[in-house]
Amino acid sequence: MKQLHFGVDYYPEHWERERWKVDAELMQKMGIQMVRMAEFSWHKLQPREDVFEFEWLDEVISLLGSYGIYTILGTPTAAPPAWMVHKNPQILPVDREGRTRGFGGRHHDCQSNPVYREYIRKLVTKMAQHYGENPWVVGWQVDNELGNSHQELCTCASCTQHFQRWLKQKYKEADILNKAWGTAFWSQEYNDFAEVCAPRITVTGENPSAMLDWKRFCSDLIVDFTREQTKILREYTKNQFITHNYMGFADKVDYYKLGELLDIVSHDQYPGGFYLEETPHEKNHVLAATLDVVRSYKNQPFWIMEQQSGITGWEVMGRAPAPGQLSAWALQAIAHGADAIVFFRWRTCAMGTEQYWHGILPHSGNPGRRYQELKDFVSAMNPVMERLQGSMPKPQVGIVFSFEQAYAFQIQPHHKDLSYTGQVQKYYRALYQQNIPVDFVPEQGDFGKYKLLVAPLQYLMSPNLEDKYMDYVRRGGHLVLTMRTGVKDVHNLCMTDQELPGRLSELAGIEVLDYDCLRDTKVEVLFEGQKMEAFIWSDLMRLAPQTKTLAAYASEFYAGEPCITEHPYGDGICYYVGTEPGERLLEALMKQICRKASVGQVCSSDTQVECVVRQKEGERFLFAINHSNQPKSFQAPDGYSLLQGSQAGKLEAYQVQIFYKAAR
Ligand code: GLA
Ligand code: ZN
Repeated sequence: MKQLHFGVDYYPEHWERERWKVDAELMQKMGIQMVRMAEFSWHKLQPREDVFEFEWLDEVISLLGSYGIYTILGTPTAAPPAWMVHKNPQILPVDREGRTRGFGGRHHDCQSNPVYREYIRKLVTKMAQHYGENPWVVGWQVDNELGNSHQELCTCASCTQHFQRWLKQKYKEADILNKAWGTAFWSQEYNDFAEVCAPRITVTGENPSAMLDWKRFCSDLIVDFTREQTKILREYTKNQFITHNYMGFADKVDYYKLGELLDIVSHDQYPGGFYLEETPHEKNHVLAATLDVVRSYKNQPFWIMEQQSGITGWEVMGRAPAPGQLSAWALQAIAHGADAIVFFRWRTCAMGTEQYWHGILPHSGNPGRRYQELKDFVSAMNPVMERLQGSMPKPQVGIVFSFEQAYAFQIQPHHKDLSYTGQVQKYYRALYQQNIPVDFVPEQGDFGKYKLLVAPLQYLMSPNLEDKYMDYVRRGGHLVLTMRTGVKDVHNLCMTDQELPGRLSELAGIEVLDYDCLRDTKVEVLFEGQKMEAFIWSDLMRLAPQTKTLAAYASEFYAGEPCITEHPYGDGICYYVGTEPGERLLEALMKQICRKASVGQVCSSDTQVECVVRQKEGERFLFAINHSNQPKSFQAPDGYSLLQGSQAGKLEAYQVQIFYKAAR
């Protein structure tokens, strides 16, 4: 495939034909090499049941082609047209209160509905046959942000049937399901799979085991929905890639599994957010974590399919990106492993919900400040992108990130401020502050390549995963386990045969005999001779003889008892953190653990200067990103030279410098 690096999301159907040529010229001048189109234009492509109209799209594709601009086509299944919904109202989704959601937004569809699936097969087949060998079409995006707009997905009759089928395949007999779900509680036993419903809201409470399977089913349904399209596309297309635009840590679908169907994972990155609740510099670690998790889903370079290119907003708007900020954000994505950036959107839309989600061009269509900035950015970066080909960040630290653990904590968060993803991001932050690069790893992943593995909240546990952790440490790995590990089996039933964390007690060298949920308070902790704070939870533990106390509680009725521990096991060390450490404590703790695990930082820098390395055989590239609106001094470590421009030991506001060094 041709190497493409910069593109825009383009909606020619929103504008008069006469304008298309002007757009193509402006794009070409800016150095744009590709566009993504059509992911919401179902009605334009199939205005009536038996009428397909591809001429307009043929015309845009070939016009753009005459300017050397390639196309990525979206399958428009995120926006089923009104005629279809009118004729087949059963394709509308039904929420957990049993209310049918109406036409008028997007994703007003039930993904299991057979009638809807049939329409999709027909359209996608026609599109694939028509464009499958078009030399200007380089790839496909299936649907758009699957799982978005789906709240708790759909509980209609079709979804209920599919859920029953899924359960039958998994459990074979109703009694096996009864055992797995603990239905003896409150007389919830089923005699037959036909009695199981998609979970509507109940009078009181929910069965946590049933809810976990429902969330797994919903994720599998999205994967299956995608597979139906990728199968068709693979059958009729030649030399065209397939991708889907992810949303970072969004969790309606297991992104690792979805990634198996795709050639490239792509992602939509909006650092300005919708409402910008936090000041930008406090969010930088979340932006970085989001990019790292996206790279980790397929463990390969990724694409940004929508990169912020102006003020964001629907009803309420975000701040205007300052000069340099759009480029800095795009460069942050590249630093973390993006091989291509597609900016959302080309021109600010005059109609519909997203009138205030600003594009490169303003409403008027006249190139302004954003066009100029991104034009300069693209022309400076095109040659650099060629050099970066084949390079990736190569972290020594892995953070285990699992969709199933996220689901289990959504069902029973324990504490109003506890979320699985939030907890994972807190550990990430402590490493990010020290410029220590991180991969995210699925529980099925390869732990062995990391010197340090951080596994927060390993709540659902299986014998297989226990073995993996024990094996990892035995062979010399350093592992961080935390509170609420080994609490449940994979069916979301509490484990009862041992004190927590079950079989992992042997590895962690502790037993949790009691605990305290810190509802509206915090606890003091003594670490390295200093008093610090911890939140949410306190595990009260009994230590094995070899276990060392790293930190002890310093308040509450358990003052003086161990809070964070270290236990040698085989050739490695297992750390156990029995609480949620506050920021200061977590940073100090991770610093100590990284030192013990011989994990190095990229380099030291001001807290608002992020440093990231991409590397390949023979070369290392260091990105220094100034996220602040003030100049910051910065010296690259020995051996690095600046890739472009001259080094002044200083980064201007929102400036990014790239350095390189020959390396083995
Ligand atoms: C998402 C979608 C786009 C658009 C933007 C802005 O990322 O994929 O279609 O809706 O958000 O709201
Ligand atoms: Zn449904």
